[in-house]
This record gives sequence, C-alpha cells and structure tokens, in this order.
Amino acid sequence: MTSPSPAPAPLEGPWLRLRPVAEPDLPTILEWLREPEVLHWWDNELGSLEEAREEFLEPDPRDPGAGYLIEEQGSALGYIQWWQRSDDEMDAHWAGIDIFIADPTARGRGVGTEAVRMLLAWLFEERHLHRVTIDPETGNARAIRSYQKAGFRLDGVLRHNDFMRGAWVDTQMMSILEDEWPEAKAAWDAERALG
Ligand SMILES: CC(C)(COP(=O)(O)OP(=O)(O)OC[C@H]1O[C@@H](n2cnc3c(N)ncnc32)[C@H](O)[C@@H]1OP(=O)(O)O)[C@@H](O)C(=O)NCCC(=O)NCCS
Repeated sequence: MTSPSPAPAPLEGPWLRLRPVAEPDLPTILEWLREPEVLHWWDNELGSLEEAREEFLEPDPRDPGAGYLIEEQGSALGYIQWWQRSDDEMDAHWAGIDIFIADPTARGRGVGTEAVRMLLAWLFEERHLHRVTIDPETGNARAIRSYQKAGFRLDGVLRHNDFMRGAWVDTQMMSILEDEWPEAKAAWDAERALG
C-alpha cells in the first residue's frame, strides 16, 4: 500500500462525495483504523497523529495518488485512495485502489461499491488510465463481491502477497481495463435508474 497525496478537488456524485483528506481528519482516521473490521482487513493501526500525517498526508512526491474521505450528506463514513508507482514508464498507465468503510452501520448498503465506481469513473474518464487494480484478501468475500459489482474481474491469487495480523496472507488480484469500463458504467447507470 502506498500513501496517497491529497487530490486537488472533491469528486461529487448524486449520493456520495469523495473529499480529499485534510489535517483535521487525522484524529478520525486514527480512530477508524482501530475499528475491529477495519483493523482486521486493513491491519494498519497507527500510534500517533504524526504517523497518520506521514501515511495519509505526506506521501512520496514521486508517486501520484490521492486519499479521500467518503461522505454521505456531510457524514464521513470511510476512506478510499488511489495510488501509482513512478518506478517505470509503464506504471503511469495503471493505478491501485484501497478502501474501507469505517462506520459499521454504513457497510452492506452499497456505499463501498458506489465509492469505488466514482473513483473508477474519474480514473478512466479524467486520467485516461488503462488498468485499475485492487487486491483484497482471498477470505474477504464481501470486498470481493463489492469489487465484482463495480466491474473488477478476477486475475488470480497472489500467494503470501501481504503480511496481516502477524502472518502471510494470500490476496485476490482483481482488475478492470479501460475497454471494460463502459459496460461497468452502464451497469451502474442501470442500477441507479432502478433507484
Ligand atoms: C469491503 C467494503 C469496502 C465493501 O463496502 P460495502 O459498502 O460494505 O459493500 P456493498 O454494500 O457495496 O456490497 C457488499 C456486497 O457483498 C455482499 N456480501 C456481504 N457479506 C458477504 C459475504 N460474507 N460473502 C459474500 N458476499 C457478501 C453483499 O450482499 C453485497 O452484495 P449484493 O449487493 O450483491 O447483495 C466494506 O464492507 C468494508 O470496508 N469492510 C471492512 C474493511 C475492508 O474489508 N476493506 C477492504 C479491504 S480490501
């Protein structure tokens, strides 16, 4: 996971708003990282505001990216980020996404899928990327289902790709390509039309 830099502008949708993280959000983020489900699947408990600032507000300036609070009617429900690596010219064509919904009452009602779709729309339509990836743990069935709904397809299992909760875990690499985005967007539009 790479730390993101703040985005210049919020992403506005009819339901949710993705607002770039700012300094006053850091205590909330620290608290969110200790919420049991976030702690389990994200496993990045930070000890201080300074650590949170470093992780969420002071990324490596060479690596493009952005972190946003996910807001519904002014209430912050969670966090989403995109990131790129700057090591290679080809790296400019793809990005990774990470997300957590920290408010337990907000999970399971479509917020995560909606936030991912909003970010995908921006990455494909504004940044013109070729490929976007996400890599939930193989055991995180809810996350995998949510990302499939947003249009991600399964690439394969990366064995021992992450170190979580004191052990190596397998992750499910998922991706969506630019030419798959129109179909995923049409599915999103159809769902919204149904209300
Ligand atoms: C993963 C996460 C981002 C998904 O966001 P969300 O708003 O809860 O997800 P949605 O409501 O959009 O979609 C969840 C889907 O998974 C399904 N689901 C829920 N629990 C499930 C399970 N145990 N197995 C399979 N599917 C499950 C839901 O039914 C829903 O699918 P449906 O709309 O077809 O019914 C959010 O739950 C979360 O942040 N969890 C804790 C931290 C985390 O896991 N972060 C992701 C790290 S990769």
